[in-house]
Amino acid sequence: MSTLKAVRGTRDLLPPETALWNRIEATARSVFARYNFGEIRTPVFEDTTLFARGVGEETDIVSKEMYTWEDRARAQSEKTQSLTLRPENTAGVVRAYIEHGLGESGQLQKLYYIGPQFRRERPQKGRYRQFSQIGAEVIGPPSAGSESPLRDAEILEMLATLLDELGITGWTLHLNSVGSSADRERYNQALRAALVPVVAQMCPDCQRRAETNPLRVLDCKVPADQPVIDTLPVIADSLDEASQAHFAQVTAALDAAGVPYTRNHRLVRGLDYYTRTTFEFTHGGLGAQNALLGGGRYDGLSEMLGGPRAPGIGFAVGEDRLVLTLLALENTQQDEKAAAFVAPLGEALNAAALALARELRRSGLRIELGEGSFRLKKSFEAADKTARQIVILGEDELQSGILTVKNFSTGIQTKVPRAELAVFLLNSGQSLEPEGGRSTPGAPLVVPPARIQKNAIHK
Ligand code: HAM
Repeated sequence: MSTLKAVRGTRDLLPPETALWNRIEATARSVFARYNFGEIRTPVFEDTTLFARGVGEETDIVSKEMYTWEDRARAQSEKTQSLTLRPENTAGVVRAYIEHGLGESGQLQKLYYIGPQFRRERPQKGRYRQFSQIGAEVIGPPSAGSESPLRDAEILEMLATLLDELGITGWTLHLNSVGSSADRERYNQALRAALVPVVAQMCPDCQRRAETNPLRVLDCKVPADQPVIDTLPVIADSLDEASQAHFAQVTAALDAAGVPYTRNHRLVRGLDYYTRTTFEFTHGGLGAQNALLGGGRYDGLSEMLGGPRAPGIGFAVGEDRLVLTLLALENTQQDEKAAAFVAPLGEALNAAALALARELRRSGLRIELGEGSFRLKKSFEAADKTARQIVILGEDELQSGILTVKNFSTGIQTKVPRAELAVFLLNSGQSLEPEGGRSTPGAPLVVPPARIQKNAIHK
C-alpha cells in the first residue's frame, strides 16, 4: 500500500521550527497592540461571490487559483451554495465590518489577523498552496479620518518597526499609487490605446486582459512580455491632482518618520480592490518569490460588497516567507566569519566593488571588502581569514554580470549571475551552531540547519 503524504503545496511544520513561528506571531501581536489594533478571526471559507466581487473576476487569484466547491443542500431550509477556501483575508474582514455594522460606532476599526490562506499556485520555494498571513486592516467612515494619508504612512511605519523587531534587515519598500477609480479608468484607456499595436506579440492572458482589464497586463510574469510592458505608459501620468496630493502627503510623512522607500511605477498589485497607495516589501534573500508582504488602500471595497462608504488600508505579510528570510539571515549572521569577501582585480575596480558590497549588505549579508592593489594571492589569503567565500570582481565579471564565487570550506568554484548573488551567498551560508541552537534568553532563535532541511519540506 502506498504511504499517504501531505498534499502537494502543503507541509507539516515541526519543532523546533514551530518555535520560530510562535516567536514571529508573538512579536507581531505585541507590535500591533502598541498601534492599538485588536484581533479579528473570520471563517476559513466564505461564499465564492465575496472573492469574485471583492478581489475581482479577472485576477489570477479568482480566475485560476481558488479552491471552490458546490456545497450541496442537506435540508429543505438550505440552498446549494458555491463556497471557497479564503485565498486572502481582506474581503472577509470587510464583509465582517459590514455584517456587524462596525462603522456605526463612527470610529476607525483597526483589526489584525493571523491564519491560513489557500491558493492553487504552482508550488516552489516561498510559494505554497496553504500558507499563513499576518495581516491588518484600518477601516472606517471618512468622518473618522479613514482616507487620511497619515493612516497609510502609519501602517508603513508600523511594518518597518515589525521587520526591525523581528531582526529582518535588508528589506526594500516599493511604493506606488494606483489612483482613484476615475484615474484608473483614464489609465485603462491610455493602456488600451498603447496596447493596440503591440498586443499581438504578447501572451494569450495579456491578449485577453488587454480587452477585459488592461491594468492586469502589468502583473504578467512571462519573460518575453516584459520588454513590451516596459514601453507602456505609467499610471503616475493618469493621476488627478487629489490623488497626486494624497501620494505626496504619504511620502512626506514617510520622509519625516525616516522610513526609506522607492517608487515603483509597475506596482499595481494582483487584486482589483486597490485605490491610491499600493506597496510591497521585498527581500533579496527570498529568490524569485521575493515579496515579504503586500498591501494598499481600498477606498471602494465596502461599497463593492454592498456596504456603506468605508475607506480602508491594510497589508498581509507572508509568514512562511518571514520564516525563510529569518532562517537565511540567522545562517549568515551566526557565523564568526563574513559571508563573503569581495575582491576587486585592480584599483580601477575599487568603486565597482564598493557598489557590489553595498548591494549585498543591503540584502542583510555580512561582507568584507578587499582592495584592488592586492595581488590575487593576497586577496585569497585575506579572504580565507575573514570570510567563508570569495567573490572575484574583474573587468570581465563587471561586463558580463557573471561573478566567480569560491567557497573555502568545499573548495567549489561557481559562476553566479549578479542578480542571483545575494540569494546564492545567503543560501550557501552554513551556521556553525551546534544542534539545539542558541538558548540565551531574549536572543534570536536559531534553528539548526540540519534540522531545518529535514523539516522544511518544499513540495
Ligand atoms: P497578496 O500580495 O496577495 O495580498 O499577499 C500578501 C503576501 O502573502 C505576499 O506578499 C506573500 O508574502 C504572501 N503570499 C501570497 N501568496 C502566497 C503563497 N502562495 N505562498 C506563500 N506566501 C504567499 C493580499 O493577500 C492582500 N489581502 C493584502 C492586503 C491586506 N491588502 C490590503 N489589506
